[in-house]
Amino acid sequence: METVRTIAALHQATAPWRAAGERIAFVPTMGNLHAGHLALVREAARVAERVVVSIFVNPLQFDRQDDFQAYPRTLAEDREALAQEAVDLLFLPEVEEMYPRGMEACTRVEVPGLSEVLCGAFRPGHFVGVATVVTKLLNAVRPDVALFGEKDFQQLLVVRRLVEDLNLPVEVRGVPTVREPDGLALSSRNRYLSPEERGRAPALYRALLAARERLLAGEPPGAVEAAGMRELEAAGLRPEYFSVRRREDLEEPGPADGQLVVLAAAWLGRARLIDNLPVDL
Ligand code: PAF
Repeated sequence: METVRTIAALHQATAPWRAAGERIAFVPTMGNLHAGHLALVREAARVAERVVVSIFVNPLQFDRQDDFQAYPRTLAEDREALAQEAVDLLFLPEVEEMYPRGMEACTRVEVPGLSEVLCGAFRPGHFVGVATVVTKLLNAVRPDVALFGEKDFQQLLVVRRLVEDLNLPVEVRGVPTVREPDGLALSSRNRYLSPEERGRAPALYRALLAARERLLAGEPPGAVEAAGMRELEAAGLRPEYFSVRRREDLEEPGPADGQLVVLAAAWLGRARLIDNLPVDL
């Protein structure tokens, strides 16, 4: 696995692959890799001849400076994990490489509507930061396929929308969430949980499963959302939202909508947990 730190070196490394007609799959990450990231990498290796992974803790998508500073950085372990996988190239840019004019002055990408609801309402500017860095990374790597986890379902839809709206020549693939045996979705932020909080964290997934059962039994979304909020509070979590939405665009569902998703975000100690579950009525 080769490592490059600049966009120029990235272009140099990938040019022969393109010339040989090899397909390139790209997995953007912020590091602190876990089995969820490795599932993305394995899917990337399945769908293309070449795999590029990036590790960049993107300051533009953090709404709080302390969260950015505290974000776990585990480069040595990440490299080791990637070296065990079929990864051809690791792109490891510095902030100056990604934002040479500084973050205030850089051109931004905004996906209106989708970016302002749910997590976007609680983390102002977050999805502009995500959309901007993903656009820049896609333009730098120029992959045929880019892979994103379904755990960050809103992020996946934001990326799909920007790729469509900006006519970027890349296929976006969602990869199913990887869970612990007790249902907790894998996340870099799980490491903020104390052992006692870790024991309570699967309540989030249980509340989503219960919501799915309620929707399948014909309960209206409003009642399902209220019950979800109550369940999370009863388990000692501090929910931001528990919401039933239309799966294609995260709009509130009407009676004719059958493809839904239940999404939730909740604090547990220092950790902000998010998760979601699809529901087909
Ligand atoms: O999901 C993440 O890790 C990040 O939001 C991403 C897509 C790498 C952009 O910084």
